[in-house]
Amino acid sequence: MSKPRTIAIDGPAASGKSTLARRLARALHYLYFDTGVLYRAVTWAALQRGLSPADEDAMTRLAETLDIQVRPPSQDDGRSNDVWVDGRDVTWAVRAPEVDAWVSVVAAHPGVRRALVDVQRRIGRQGRVVMVGRDIGTVILPDADLKIYLDASTEERARRRYHEARQRGEAVDYASILAALQERDRLDASRAVAPLRPAADAVVIHSDGLDADAVFRRVMDLIRRRNSAPAEPVP
Ligand code: DC
Repeated sequence: MSKPRTIAIDGPAASGKSTLARRLARALHYLYFDTGVLYRAVTWAALQRGLSPADEDAMTRLAETLDIQVRPPSQDDGRSNDVWVDGRDVTWAVRAPEVDAWVSVVAAHPGVRRALVDVQRRIGRQGRVVMVGRDIGTVILPDADLKIYLDASTEERARRRYHEARQRGEAVDYASILAALQERDRLDASRAVAPLRPAADAVVIHSDGLDADAVFRRVMDLIRRRNSAPAEPVP
């Protein structure tokens, strides 16, 4: 068996998916694509235009018509990709707390998800890609060669977010971060379309007590072991 051409990484917010995916993409020379930015771009544009994120028809129309571009990074400021909406660089704007607060509502609209499926599949099917999201292994790329579902307890994930924010010099409080994560998980896991759950053939990794290096090594081992597995006998 050769290297997996498509790697799907799903899991709840702040489980370490992006860190893992970026490192895998770098090690394998693959494209890294964080699909959450598409939902974030729609949410950002809705807030800019004064549209209600709860209005499914309006959000669906927006997702169908919005010009969202995800490109290789143009600046060395910690970004993995550029995200442009309507000719504006919104790479960091889509990470703002107002977007965090509304993005799960927008991502739960079936029409929005439908509008964003094709662009994700097109990129995925080109291969040599590590794709990150919530429904990559279940809906977007059900034939992905390797599916990882990265999980961690809510408390562990809130602790990581808290320390990251403190390192950036932001004044944050742990209890609010924990509450916001719990609410996002609830919305992502309970929505009717493409809810957050591991694909039946995903490798589930619980990362409580594991640092980013350990998770990366575990997945690289998995890839190496699959590479060296004897070919299955032809019936
Ligand atoms: O990973 P993130 O925090 O950037 O995701 C933002 C939101 O988008 C989150 O509520 C989950 C949702 N999302 C999704 O529903 N499906 C994806 N493939 C990626 C993200």
